[in-house]
Amino acid sequence: MSNRTFTMIKPDAMKNGHAGAIIDRFIKEGFRIVALKQTKLSEEKAGEFYAVHRERPFYGELVEFMSSGVIVAAILEKENAVAAFRELIGATNPAQAAEGTIRKLYATSIGENAVHGSDSDENAKIEGSFFFSGLEQF
Ligand code: CMP
Repeated sequence: MSNRTFTMIKPDAMKNGHAGAIIDRFIKEGFRIVALKQTKLSEEKAGEFYAVHRERPFYGELVEFMSSGVIVAAILEKENAVAAFRELIGATNPAQAAEGTIRKLYATSIGENAVHGSDSDENAKIEGSFFFSGLEQF
């Protein structure tokens, strides 16, 4: 069990002005910020990040959406971070997300679901190092 996870605040939440509230929630829920930046994915980089979903019918839509605007990428630290963070953000589909979760509050659809959260310790490491060098992690 690792104590770090990776997250992105997606273009929908950025455009809708929710980034500040979402980062505030991360901190209030006890996640320590290890690394944080605003950036924008090219279509190529979004495709690379989500390569595991390449064969899925929604892949094209996902890549187009994730490269449609700026995002905030972050590495967060807390005990049992991956599971704790997935509980905080709620189900992938906001219609199925529990009350009070970030996706229930801020997501609009399964495709435009406000935030990403790593699904395993292994992916948290891979995804964190996709965006941040060792020198950017404290
Ligand atoms: P995320 O946690 O970032 O990881 C993969 C993403 O694919 C997921 O969030 C959703 O935004 C997206 N996704 C999953 N299922 C669908 C779907 N049926 N239609 C569109 N996008 C989807």
